[in-house]
Amino acid sequence: MKGATTNICYNVLDRIVHEKKLGDKIAFYWEGNEPEETTQITYHELLVQVCQFSNVLRKQGIRKGDRVAIYMPMIPKLVVAMLACARLGALHSIVFAGFSAESLCERILDASCSLLITADAFYRGEKLVKLKELADEALEKCREKGFPVRCCIVVKHLRRTELGTGDSLSQSPPIKRPCPDVQISWNEGVDFWWHELIHEAGDECEPEWCDAEDPLFILYTSGSTGKPKGVVHTVGGYMLYVATTFKYVFDFHAEDVFWCTADIGWITGHSYVTYGPMANGATSVLFEGIPTYPDVSRMWSIVDKYKVTKFYTAPTAIRLLMKFGDKPVTKHSRASLQVLGTVGEPINPEAWLWYHQVVGAQRCPIVDTFWQTETGGHMLTPLPGATPMKPGSATFPFFGVAPAILNESGEELEGEAEGYLVFKQPWPGIMRTVYGNHERFETTYFKKFPGYYVTGDGCRRDQDGYYWITGRIDDMLNVSGHLLSTAEVESALVEHKAIAEAAVVSHPHPVKGECLYCFVTLCDGYTFSSTLTEELKKQIREKIGPIATPDYIQNAPGLPKTRSGKIMRRVLRKIAQNDHDLGDISTVADPSVISQLFSHRCLTVQ
Ligand code: WT7
Repeated sequence: MKGATTNICYNVLDRIVHEKKLGDKIAFYWEGNEPEETTQITYHELLVQVCQFSNVLRKQGIRKGDRVAIYMPMIPKLVVAMLACARLGALHSIVFAGFSAESLCERILDASCSLLITADAFYRGEKLVKLKELADEALEKCREKGFPVRCCIVVKHLRRTELGTGDSLSQSPPIKRPCPDVQISWNEGVDFWWHELIHEAGDECEPEWCDAEDPLFILYTSGSTGKPKGVVHTVGGYMLYVATTFKYVFDFHAEDVFWCTADIGWITGHSYVTYGPMANGATSVLFEGIPTYPDVSRMWSIVDKYKVTKFYTAPTAIRLLMKFGDKPVTKHSRASLQVLGTVGEPINPEAWLWYHQVVGAQRCPIVDTFWQTETGGHMLTPLPGATPMKPGSATFPFFGVAPAILNESGEELEGEAEGYLVFKQPWPGIMRTVYGNHERFETTYFKKFPGYYVTGDGCRRDQDGYYWITGRIDDMLNVSGHLLSTAEVESALVEHKAIAEAAVVSHPHPVKGECLYCFVTLCDGYTFSSTLTEELKKQIREKIGPIATPDYIQNAPGLPKTRSGKIMRRVLRKIAQNDHDLGDISTVADPSVISQLFSHRCLTVQ
């Protein structure tokens, strides 16, 4: 209806509580970093907290259209903070708490955020992250650049037991490990404790009514290349799209317990931890920790603890856990599981099969969901139980999605084909602009092939019409005039029992143009040898063809990854070429692996 108004916070909270009468339903089971730290929060409790915090933000001067930066661990107050922004029509810009002070500063400046919400500190596995210290550093950098942020709201999370029982999280048992005395510096007049502000806030707050096309949030895309882009999503289309994809792709039923392991700091968390499940009145798990702490069976122990029915994770997590064998999985029942999802990168058939056979005990359909920060929600995906699966294929488009495969000259290819994956028509969840740079939006996604949205991914359609993502186009390589995808070579390598993970980059070659340089991480208990490299080459020749035979295979005890787990092939290409001019490597999660790889480079063709 033209001129109608809405509010997404109203739809995921007030509507669920008052119209659906689900106020007492648990919205989130919160599982802290330590297995014994748990709490839960109902839809009604969440609504009250969101109203209170919306009033706090309003009092701090936040109005419709303002930008609020959020830099928080995976705790219920992160959900409260984002929904409070949405209630006021303010744009949240969530920065993953694994990002550096520098990245936070860059993002605050790019969107000129007037307020920052953060926490004192938190643990991720064994690692203590002093978040407030990083936030201070970021705000100091912002001040130096002439942009003073006027207000910083701090959640007392690590030292929450000091707060007594008034706070919902402090109801959880005290942390077992000794709580370090994290010294927090305090900027009078700028810093405010969340619990102090909330004290004086009323628990009713009228939502700000929005147009469907009003902006909802900004989220920066992973910085593997260049300056991060502030992807802007809007209220109406995004709400509709995440609610619908959640419902059908995970075959949602009222009694489900849904667990998406992604951090809310990524689009997967925005869409399938917060907005999609909540729009359906679902119960979800919100997990603060990591899959390997305190041990590698943590995921499956959480699945059993909350009787998780639908589970959604990334191939990188599956491959990581696969390295430790079946035992940590099978020692837990997992009988509640019904649907398993994957997202983030192409899943190699070997990992797919392990996920299906071991984790899902062959009972659970796998939904391999292809989508992007830019698309808001799922684009290519099976519907569980309805779509016959093929391991490694994201199968078919979601309702209303019109994919096409183009060749280099922009011609649509029919039938079996490989080329650029594009979409021919818009869908409700498509991003609307790059924040502050609409021209960049147009050139990045619409210029190469006018009339199409360009994903940047390569894709193959097989004889049955199934779509197979072959990896980013920039990860494609041309060997002797043949187009190869790094992902397919990696998949072939990982199928070898000794290989846990592999990354393949293109390397200049005098005759072939480009050749393959492979980095391989071995499974526990294997050693790197010339016999192994010969076996791997044979395997690739057999799986793909002689054209894909690698010229170099290097032992890589660790791979440079972004904090979201994406392998940084740009850095690997430089290492392969012994080029120490690596450009911006601030997004590498563990920079020490880089020097290690440089010192073990392959000097001659094997
Ligand atoms: C890129 C988008 C969308 C959530 C997380 C990533 C790759 C994503 C799949 C999949 C093959 C996939 C693509 C895409 N990707 N899902 N199921 N199969 N590739 O969001 O950081 O915006 O990355 O991730 O290359 O373009 P993102």
